[in-house]
Amino acid sequence: MAPPNVFILTGAGISAESGLSTFRDKDGLWSRYKIEDVASIEGYGRDPQRVLDFYNLRGGAHGDVQPNAGHIALARLEQHWKMRGAVVTVCTQNIDNLHERAGSRRVIHMHGELAKVRCHNCGNVTPRDGDLSINLACAACGQIGGMRPHVVWFGETPLGMDAVYEALAASKLFVSIGTSGSVYPAGGFVRAAREADVATMEINLEPSENADAFDARRYGKASEVLPVWVDEMIGSVGR
Ligand code: OAD
Repeated sequence: MAPPNVFILTGAGISAESGLSTFRDKDGLWSRYKIEDVASIEGYGRDPQRVLDFYNLRGGAHGDVQPNAGHIALARLEQHWKMRGAVVTVCTQNIDNLHERAGSRRVIHMHGELAKVRCHNCGNVTPRDGDLSINLACAACGQIGGMRPHVVWFGETPLGMDAVYEALAASKLFVSIGTSGSVYPAGGFVRAAREADVATMEINLEPSENADAFDARRYGKASEVLPVWVDEMIGSVGR
């Protein structure tokens, strides 16, 4: 019999040990920047270059980071499940590409991807090639000034939500990893899972805002907890 499909939600905590800042921890990005200035559609309307500069800086920080043992464990789970005819879907709020670089193949980037650029005018998406500025022109429609990171800002709709809810409903286990659970719709997945009779588990450094909503909880660093949990999962279905 195939093992149960697993739906995984990840947040900034899984990339923290790779050296990328989280948002709401003590030294997190939102202690240094105002969301409404650098990550909202209104902020982009007021001062697009300031928003682009924030993501150019993040692009620089993402340049030489590596996947950690947490990302690698999730890729291992997906590969093992695939051999057994089952599916592991990773839905990430992160805009880095560390899941893919660790080997995960079914990845949904609900908040977009920093490695891609989108034209705000025509919607054309291309790979990112260096820093963004308001002087760049879109290769598809020719408009100057609308080249922005392919990321979701506050005030915009997350990406791939049909695929997200479909994968969640087709799963038997929902695991939330390294996220404070404070941003919706991701923060509501645990309740959606419960309503669909999907078992739920939280893996985080500390209890998240909606910790009480989970059936099971494990606390510690993602790079330490995930390899152990994945070993247990693989052990439970046989190697
Ligand atoms: P947060 O910064 O809100 O939460 C990160 C969580 O990771 C916290 O609960 C930490 O306790 C936990 N954490 C930190 N280090 C960890 C480690 N080594 N192992 C395991 N857990 C660890 O980040 P997110 O929940 O990802 O959205 O934030 C959600 C969204 O808010 C982001 O995608 C971004 C942000 O505003 C947009 O920009 C649209």
